[in-house]
Amino acid sequence: MDRTVVLITGCSSGIGLHLALRLASDPSQSFKVYATLRDLKAQGPLWEAARARGCPPGSLETLQLDVRDSDSVAAARAQVTEGRVDVLVCNAGRGLLGPLEAHVAASVGSVLDVNVTGTVRTLQAFLPDMKRRRSGRVLVTGSVGGLMGLPFNAVYCASKFALEGLCESLAVLLPSFGIHLSLIECGPVHTAFQEKLEGGPGGSLHGADAKTRDLFSRYQSHCQQVFRDAAQDPEEVTEVFLTALRDPQPALRYFSTEHFLPLVRLRLGDPSGCSYVAAMRREVFKEESAENPDGSPAQPERPIFPSAKWELRQLLVAFHARILALGENKAGFGDAKPWLTRNRQRFTHRLILGTQLLPIEPEPEPGGISE
Ligand SMILES: NC(=O)c1ccc[n+]([C@@H]2O[C@H](COP(=O)([O-])OP(=O)(O)OC[C@H]3O[C@@H](n4cnc5c(N)ncnc54)[C@H](OP(=O)(O)O)[C@@H]3O)[C@@H](O)[C@H]2O)c1
Repeated sequence: MDRTVVLITGCSSGIGLHLALRLASDPSQSFKVYATLRDLKAQGPLWEAARARGCPPGSLETLQLDVRDSDSVAAARAQVTEGRVDVLVCNAGRGLLGPLEAHVAASVGSVLDVNVTGTVRTLQAFLPDMKRRRSGRVLVTGSVGGLMGLPFNAVYCASKFALEGLCESLAVLLPSFGIHLSLIECGPVHTAFQEKLEGGPGGSLHGADAKTRDLFSRYQSHCQQVFRDAAQDPEEVTEVFLTALRDPQPALRYFSTEHFLPLVRLRLGDPSGCSYVAAMRREVFKEESAENPDGSPAQPERPIFPSAKWELRQLLVAFHARILALGENKAGFGDAKPWLTRNRQRFTHRLILGTQLLPIEPEPEPGGISE
C-alpha cells in the first residue's frame, strides 16, 4: 500500500520537529515524512529524537528548504522520490516582539517574508501538482496571534492575520480540486520560538519611552501568567494536526486549546472591535478603562448595545468579581476554597468577558417589526 507522503517546513525544532517524529513513528507505518529544514546543519536533534522514538528506517528523510528562497523550495520538491506530496504542512515561522518603533525594517521584512511570502512560495510550489492529481491536504500552523491583535506583537500578528486571509481564501477554492486546507490554531507552545525571535530573545525596546517600557513589562508579566496557565507541549499540539489530517470532512480551523476561544468569540461578536480592545487592555495592562490623552481616566466603558440585558450582565460580572475576590482573600470559605482556586481561570474569563454568561444580541430597532 502506498504510504501518505508528508512534507513539513521548519523541522529543526518545536512543532515541526515533533510532528515529523509523530508521523514517522506512527504505529500504522503509513507515513513517509520529508522533514525540511532551513539549514541542514541543524538536523542533529531531529535524528537523535527519531532514534530515541524508534522511527522505522525509510519513514523519515530530511531536505533543505528555506521558505525565503523559491529555488530552495523547488529543489526540495524535486527531491521527493515518490514524485508527489499528499500532505503539505506549512509550519516554518518566526516571531518579532517589542514596540513597533523599535523594529528595524530588515526584521519586519524578514518576519513577513518567512511567515507570509514563505508560505505563499511553498503553496505555489506544491499546489499545482495537488490540483492536477485532484487530491491533497494542506495544514498551516496558525496562531492565536492571527485571530486577535496582541500588544507588542503587531508585526507577528500582521503576518499571522495575513495567513488567515490567505488560507480562508484558498479553503473556498481548493475543494473544487479535491484539496482541503486547514489551519491549526495554536496558543502558546513550549518550543524554541521565544529564543529564536527575529532580533533575539526578549524583544527589542530600542528607543522606547518610559511609558512604553512600563507597558512592555506589564505585558511580559501577563505572558508569563498565560504561559503558566495555558502553554502546551508540542506533543499535545501535534495530535491536533493528526485530528485534522484524519478528518474525513476537514474544517478550516482546528484549535489546539480552548483557552482563547472566549476572546475569539468576543472579538467576532463585536465587529466594532471595542469589546475586544477593552477586554485585552484590562487583561494585559490591568487597566480598568482607557486613559484620555492627558492621562486622566476616561469615561467608563460604554456598552455597545445599551439595554436591560447589559445591566444584568454587569451584575453578573460584579458577582463573579466578588467570588474571585473572596477566593483571593480566603476568608471563611472552608471547603469551597480548593474549588475556587481550581476554577479561578474560568471565573476570570467570565469576569473579563461577561458575555459568556449572557451573550449580547443586538436590540431590535425601535419601532421595528417584531414577530
Ligand atoms: N511556540 C508558540 O508559542 C507558537 C504559538 C502559535 C503559533 N506558533 C507557530 O508555530 C510554528 C512553529 O513554531 P515553533 O513554536 O515550533 O517554534 P520554533 O521551534 O522556533 O520553530 C520554528 C521553525 O521554523 C523554522 N524557520 C524559520 N525561518 C525559516 C525559513 N526561512 N525557512 C524554513 N524554516 C524556517 C525554524 O528553523 P531555524 O531553526 O532554522 O530558524 C524552526 O524550525 C510557527 O509558524 C509559529 O508561528 C508557535
